[in-house]
Amino acid sequence: MSSTSQDELKKAVAKAAVDYIEPKLDNHSIVGVGTGSTANYFIDYLAEISAKFDGAVASSEASAERLKAHGIPVYDLNGVDELAVYVDGADETNPRLELIKGGGAALTREKIVAAVADEFICIADGSKWVDTLGNFPLPVEVIPMARAHVARQLVKLGGDPVHRHGVITDNGNEIIDVHNLKISNPKELETAINQIVGVVCNGLFANRPADVLLIGRQGGVEKITA
Ligand code: A5P
Repeated sequence: MSSTSQDELKKAVAKAAVDYIEPKLDNHSIVGVGTGSTANYFIDYLAEISAKFDGAVASSEASAERLKAHGIPVYDLNGVDELAVYVDGADETNPRLELIKGGGAALTREKIVAAVADEFICIADGSKWVDTLGNFPLPVEVIPMARAHVARQLVKLGGDPVHRHGVITDNGNEIIDVHNLKISNPKELETAINQIVGVVCNGLFANRPADVLLIGRQGGVEKITA
C-alpha cells in the first residue's frame, strides 16, 4: 500500500481548512493568512473561493505576495476591525494545541495576527505532532544589538542558542534558534523568554494556542479542538 507524502498531507489539510472556513465567510470577511509551505497551499485553495470574502491579512511579505498574485486584496492589519479566522501551519503541536512556530522566521507577525483573530485554525501534517514541545529548536526574534545578551539569558533558561545566520525578519530583526529545551510548561517559558530585554517575540504559541487543529495523517485529516 502506498503512503501519502508529507506534501500531499499538507495539501489535504490546506483544502480541509478552506472547506472548514468557507461557511463562516461573507463578502465583508477578512481572512488571516499564515506563512510557510502548508500556508502556501492554503492560499492556493483559498483563491478558488475568493469571490466569497473581501480580502486577507498576511503574516509575512511572502504570503502577501502570493495572495496578491492570486488577485486577493491584502489589507494592513491596522485598518481591520475584526478577523474571523486565522489559518497557519506550525513546526510542532502538542495535544493541547500549544505550538512551536517560526521555522520560516515569521513568528512575530504570526503571533500578532493570531492575537486579533476570533478563531485560530492550525494546519499541519502528522510529523508535527509531539507529546512534549521542544524537539524543534525554538525560534526567538531579537533586536540585532541584543543578540548576544539574549543568547546568554537563554542559556540560563537551559537552552542552547544558535544564531540563524543570514536571516533578517520582515521586521528587520534576527533569529536565535534555541536547541535542547525541555518544554514542560510552555506558557511559563513563553512568558519568561518574553521578559528578556531585546526579545521581540518567541515562537511558543501557548498563551494563545490554536483553537482548532486540522492534522493530516495517513488515514485522512483529523479535526482536533482545544
Ligand atoms: C513560519 O514562520 C512558521 O511558523 C510556519 O508556520 C511553520 O514553519 C510551518 O511551516 P511549513 O508549513 O512549511 O511546515
